[in-house]
Amino acid sequence: RRIVVLISGSGSNLQALIDALNTPALPDAQITLVFSNRKAAYGLQRAENANPSIPTAYKALQPYLKSNPGKTREDYDAEVAKIVVKEKPDLIVLAGWMHILSERFLELIDGRKAVVEDDGVEVRHNIQVINLHPALPGAFDGAHAIERAYEAFQKGDIQQSGCMVHRVVKDVDAGEPVVVREVPIEKGEPLEEFEQRLHKVEHQIIVEAAAKVLNEAKPAQTA
Ligand code: GRF
Repeated sequence: RRIVVLISGSGSNLQALIDALNTPALPDAQITLVFSNRKAAYGLQRAENANPSIPTAYKALQPYLKSNPGKTREDYDAEVAKIVVKEKPDLIVLAGWMHILSERFLELIDGRKAVVEDDGVEVRHNIQVINLHPALPGAFDGAHAIERAYEAFQKGDIQQSGCMVHRVVKDVDAGEPVVVREVPIEKGEPLEEFEQRLHKVEHQIIVEAAAKVLNEAKPAQTA
């Protein structure tokens, strides 16, 4: 099964997926492309260092807008979608991906839509898209979720937080959860400690979710 991973930063969750390839945790899968919206994302290095190395690509939003006056963020998202779909993926994993994808991306990717290949042949994919989010469903949607959960704990508003992998749908972080894991916050522990424990759990659930979704997915059909 073909996986494309989208990253923006260190790529520790990408690394977890790489390490799980060809193990019982993630059998019969290959990562055919790692794409980043940031040239400096260390995750691109991780892909290149993998054995065998994994093809990488990046395209940053601001330079794209500057060199394509008149183009919009939606056009950028459509570009990203085309780069990704070329890989004929069964699964797209947003792992530490810090860019809200507009509907244009989903329209081009959305599992059952036909995608016209360069040679004009219409190829139909059942593409699944999942996203890792470092909070429990509906708790701290959007950015800085870890810090916001930690502050809520300090105020006594919550006892624990967690992380989840959910399907990507049009409203941010609101897709159906695939894997959810609670992570307690210890009284008096510094944010960094909680964050480290949470990241370790993320590395587990990203692999579990990828395996689960690939097992459920129908094999891709051609038109
Ligand atoms: C993770 O907490 C992820 O959930 C968030 O970015 C953090 C770093 O991810 N979106 P990675 O190390 O780049 O995979």
